[in-house]
Amino acid sequence: MKTPAYRILVCNSFLFSGEPQGVSDKQGSPEFLPLLEEDIIDGGLDALVNTTGCFKACELGPVLVDYPNNWWYGEITEDKIQEIFDVLEDGKVVGDYLIACNWL
Ligand code: FES
Repeated sequence: MKTPAYRILVCNSFLFSGEPQGVSDKQGSPEFLPLLEEDIIDGGLDALVNTTGCFKACELGPVLVDYPNNWWYGEITEDKIQEIFDVLEDGKVVGDYLIACNWL
C-alpha cells in the first residue's frame, strides 16, 4: 500500500477517553473535515485527513498540521484552509497563519 504524500492533521481536541473536549472542537474543527475532504478530491491531492487530540496550542486553536512539512497552522477558518490548500502542492507555506515549524 502506498502512503499519501501529505497528511493533514486536524485537532479535534480528543482526550485519552476519546471524548472531544477543548478549544479546537468548540471552535468548529469537526466542521472543517468535510471541507478538507472536498478540497482534496477537487484538487486531486494525494493527501489524507486525520483528526487528532490536543496539540497543546489551544490558545491558537483550531490547529491544523501539514505533514511531512511539519507546518502548524492556527486559528483555522474555512478561508484559511482554502489558502493553505491553494499552495500546498507547490510546497509553499502560508506564513501569516503559521504558529510552529522547524525553522521559526
Ligand atoms: S484543543 Fe486543539 S490544540 Fe488544544
